[in-house]
Amino acid sequence: MCGIIGYIGSRKAANILWDGLKRLEYRGYDSAGICTINNNHILIEKDVGKLEEIQNKINFNSMNGNVGISHCRWATHGKVTKENAHPHCDNNNKISIVHNGIIENFQELKERLIKKGHKFKSMTDTEVVVHLIADNYNGSIEEATRKALKQIDGSYALGIVCANEPDKLIAARNESPLIVGLGEGENFIASDVPAILKHTNKVIYLDNNEMAVLTKDNVTIKNNNGEIIHKKIAEIDWDSELAEKAGYRHFMLKEIHEQPRAITETLNGRIENGNINLANELNLNEGELKRINRIIIVACGTSWHAALAGEFMLEELAKIPVEVEYASEFRYRNPIVNEDTLVIAISQSGETADTLAAIREAKKKNANVLSIVNAKGSSISREADSVLYTYAGPEIGVASTKAFTTQLIVLYLFTLYMSNIRNSLNKETIRDLIGKLRKLPLEMETLLTEDKGIKKIADIYKDKNNALFLGRGINFPIALEGALKLKEVSYIHAEGYPAAEMKHGPIALIDKNMPVVVLATKDVYTYKKVLGNIQEVKARGGIVIAIATEGDEEIRKIADYVFYIPRTLYILSSILSVVPLQLLAYYAATDRNLDPDKPRNLSKSVTVE
Ligand code: M6R
Repeated sequence: MCGIIGYIGSRKAANILWDGLKRLEYRGYDSAGICTINNNHILIEKDVGKLEEIQNKINFNSMNGNVGISHCRWATHGKVTKENAHPHCDNNNKISIVHNGIIENFQELKERLIKKGHKFKSMTDTEVVVHLIADNYNGSIEEATRKALKQIDGSYALGIVCANEPDKLIAARNESPLIVGLGEGENFIASDVPAILKHTNKVIYLDNNEMAVLTKDNVTIKNNNGEIIHKKIAEIDWDSELAEKAGYRHFMLKEIHEQPRAITETLNGRIENGNINLANELNLNEGELKRINRIIIVACGTSWHAALAGEFMLEELAKIPVEVEYASEFRYRNPIVNEDTLVIAISQSGETADTLAAIREAKKKNANVLSIVNAKGSSISREADSVLYTYAGPEIGVASTKAFTTQLIVLYLFTLYMSNIRNSLNKETIRDLIGKLRKLPLEMETLLTEDKGIKKIADIYKDKNNALFLGRGINFPIALEGALKLKEVSYIHAEGYPAAEMKHGPIALIDKNMPVVVLATKDVYTYKKVLGNIQEVKARGGIVIAIATEGDEEIRKIADYVFYIPRTLYILSSILSVVPLQLLAYYAATDRNLDPDKPRNLSKSVTVE
C-alpha cells in the first residue's frame, strides 16, 4: 500500500530514510517525503513522482536532524498531489506523522476538528490523525497518540515525531504491517524488513493495537492502555544483498533469475531419506491430516494462480477434493467450512488484507488454517495455525515471480506429504517424484542461462494491444499467470483461457494481430488436443508462440515460435513453463520503455480491503 520508515539515533536521519524508501518503493511510488527534527523544529520535504524524479527536485541531504519519519505513497484518499503526500503536520508545525492504511471515520473526525479550529491542507484521511494527536497534546506525544487512537476506526501503521520531544519516535499499528528494528544506539520502524536490513536483522513485529516508543537507546512496546508488553525479538536470516539489484537492470529480472536458488532453498531440509518431511512445520498430526475431507485454498492475484495449480496437484496425486476461492470473496458468501476442512491461505507478503480476512473467517468456522507465506513473521503467518514458508527471499519487484514458483514447490511438497500419509501413492512412486523434483533447480538454471531467443519473441508485442494465453490442466493457471504478468508490467490487455474454451468465445478475437501463447508441454491427457487448438488459432491468422517439451519437432511445424523447456514430469513442467512467460512480460515492458518494477497503479502488498 504505502511504505514507512522511521529512524532515531546519532546518524543523519534523512540519508537513512531516503535509502530505506528506495527499498520500500515497491509499496508505493506516486509521491514521497521525509520529515526530520532539527533544533526542535520540524522540517518536511515532499513531492509527487517516483523517488528518482523527486530526488532531482529535492535535496534531502540538506535536511539535518537525527530523528525522522518518511513515506512513499500509493494514493487511496485524495489525488496524487504534493499536499496529499506524507508526512503531514499539525497547524503549529510541532507534530508530524506518516501513515499506511485507511481511517474509516475520517470524515466525521475532520468535521469535528474543523469546528474546533483545525485547518486542513490535504484531502487525505491521514491528516485527521495528526490534528487529533495535536488536539490531545498536553506535553506527552505518547499520551496524545494513545488518546487519538482511541477515537480512530480503521487500519493504520503510523510513525509519529514531535518537535518538543525530539528524543522520541512513536509507532502504532492496527491491521497494517509495521516492524521495529533494533540497532546499536539507534532504532528504526519500517513497513517491511528490506528497508532496514542493511542496518539490523533484529526486529520486533508489532501486533494490532500495539504502540512502540523508541529512543535511540531503547524500545518499549505498549498496548493501547499504556501497559508494557514483552515481545519476542526475531532474527531475520535474509541476506541484505538479496534486497539489492546485484547488477541486474530491474528487480523483476533479477528475481526471475533467482528462481533456481529460491527453489533449492525452499526444498532444503524438507526431503529426508527419499521422503517429504513437513511434520515439524505443521500443527496437525498424521491422524488429523488423514481426517481432512476437503481443502479450500484462498489467495489473491498470482498466489491465487498458484492455488489453482495446487488444486490440480492435490486432486491428481493426494486424491483430496479441493476448491479454490478468491480470498476477497470468501467471507462474503457464507462458505461451508467445518473442523474437517483444511483452509490453505497463500500469500507472498503475508499481509494481504483480503487473505487475512479469509483466514479469520475460516478460523471462526473452526477450520484448521495452513498458510504458505514468503515474508517471515507477517500477519498471515502468525494468524494461521501452521505455516509453510517459501524461501524466495525478499521479493521487491511488484510483479511476483520467484514467490510464485516457490509457492508451487511448497504445494507440491505438501501434496506428496499428504499422498504418503493418505496412501494415495506408493512409496516407490513418491521416491521417483521426489527424484524428479530435486532436478528442477538445475533444469531451471539451464533454461535461464541458455539464450533461447525469448527477447526476440517478446518483440512481437511491441505494436500489439492484446494477447491470449492458453493452457489446459495444470497449464491453465500458468496461462492465467502469463497473462497477468504481461498486463501488469507492459499494460497490454491479456487474457488466459483453458485452451478448449477458446472456441466458446475468445476465438472471435483472433486475427493476424493477436499473439497467442500456447502452453503445449507433453502430457498423457491433452497434448494432442492442444495441437488441435494451435491449428484453430493458425487457421484464423493468429501468431502462435508455443511453450513445448524439448525434442518435440511436431510442434515446430505448426507454431510460429517455439520455446523449449526441459523434459520432466507434467506437473513439474508447469513450474518451468512459467519462466519464459515471466521473461516475455519483462521484455515486452522494457521494449516499451516501461519500468517493470513499478507498474502504474499497483502496489506490492495490498493491505486494504
Ligand atoms: O502478497 P500476496 O501474495 O498475498 O499478494 C497477492 C496479490 O496482490 C499479488 O500476487 C499481485 O497479484 C501481484 N502483483 C502479482 O504479480
